[in-house]
Amino acid sequence: MSDHTIIQNDKKHVWHHLTQHKALETADPLVFVKGKGMVVTDSKGDEYLDATSGGVWTVNLGYGRDDMVDAIADQLRDIPYIAGSFGSEPGAQFAKELTDLTPGLDRVYYSNSGSEANEKGYKMVRQRAHSYNGGKKHKIIYRDRDYHGTTIGALSSTGQNQRKTQYGPFAPGFVEMPHCCCYRCPFGKKYGECNIECAHALETVIQQEGPDTVGSVVLEPITAGGGVIPPVPEYFPIIESICRKYDVLLHIDEVVCGLGRTGKWFGYQNYEVQPDIVTTAKGLAAGYAAISVTITSEKVFEHFKQNPADPLSSFRDISTFGGCTAGPAAALKTLNIIKGENLLDNVNTMGDYLIDKLFELQEKHPIIGDVRGKGLFCGAELVKDRKTKEPLSDESVIAITGHCLKNKVMIGRSNRNFVNANNVLLFSPAFITTKNDIDSIIQAVDNAITENT
Ligand SMILES: Cc1ncc(COP(=O)(O)O)c(C=O)c1O
Repeated sequence: MSDHTIIQNDKKHVWHHLTQHKALETADPLVFVKGKGMVVTDSKGDEYLDATSGGVWTVNLGYGRDDMVDAIADQLRDIPYIAGSFGSEPGAQFAKELTDLTPGLDRVYYSNSGSEANEKGYKMVRQRAHSYNGGKKHKIIYRDRDYHGTTIGALSSTGQNQRKTQYGPFAPGFVEMPHCCCYRCPFGKKYGECNIECAHALETVIQQEGPDTVGSVVLEPITAGGGVIPPVPEYFPIIESICRKYDVLLHIDEVVCGLGRTGKWFGYQNYEVQPDIVTTAKGLAAGYAAISVTITSEKVFEHFKQNPADPLSSFRDISTFGGCTAGPAAALKTLNIIKGENLLDNVNTMGDYLIDKLFELQEKHPIIGDVRGKGLFCGAELVKDRKTKEPLSDESVIAITGHCLKNKVMIGRSNRNFVNANNVLLFSPAFITTKNDIDSIIQAVDNAITENT
């Protein structure tokens, strides 16, 4: 199909995600037709270095991998689909290999998006509350700045005002607690001189709500779209001890961090913490197939088979496309490629290189107020003034990412998360990235900031 036809069909008929379409009346959308390694090609034949793994932390192995395609094709020839009330070979095998990486978590529930995986986790908590502790432990605490998905339940547990505005009313029983970003400490403290108030705030919220009403807390291990926020080392152990004290389940949302992005198999494994529920999606099959999982402890799972005589006792949930076998087949292959090619080592080595380069850029450009990250998951927060920390405007941030794009380097930015505070540049190249790629990415950002400030 000609480039012109693709673009006209897109302009006429596609409603793009997170897009104000007025601009596309006078400009063409970027339509990508091919990818190989770290590079994607648009319909005009222009090539771009992708520092975003597909825009949203997904194509973690890079593009155009025949080994991934072959694994999926082989599975589709055997059997493409079977409803999740039955078993499948890749479903069984991937669940085994995945839970080998998550000690203390032994059960895998399949679905097909990050939002859906989180909804499953919430439904487990809500249903468990009915037959546990007098039916009251149903509330779910989430954190300001975290994102847990696009569906109304997942959005009800999201702490990003611009993402939420106009989509209410939200589901009841979701309660917010403060974020843990030291650069913008909600308690006005400094790390080293504080008492990790951001973690202890969980206890305050549990007490305010009533401990017998709180079922779980859902947290990103490192907040992603909310600004790449790794907590301090003390944070998660405090959170876990509060959860244990009040019999509250700890649900960690690994939709972005899962399967290697931070240099460990899971983001939470950078910290001393044992979750009860883990959800993951995005990079799980490196974008070659849709899959998400809700992984639970055996203790959570056991609760749903205690009373077989009661038709309401089992988890009465389903996900049609959770039965597509391409998902676990692709996830299994992804896992084996990461192991076989020692890609976690590359994530750590290249991640260190990337963050060092960002720190160098920070020394050069006063608008870089803060640099944060772990592994190949980094952010640079842009400010008008380092002293006041006033966020750089959305327009200026867009000008910087737009300049990079013009120069054929795709970097990310926080997008429509917070009113007047979408000011974090996002860097998440695929796990196969090299020093040369990172040098090109940094050079593009350096030029973009120089030209636009
Ligand atoms: C931390 C986190 N959780 C959940 C989701 C929702 O995932 P999905 O878009 O696959 O529904 C996202 C998506 O960006 C995310 O970043």
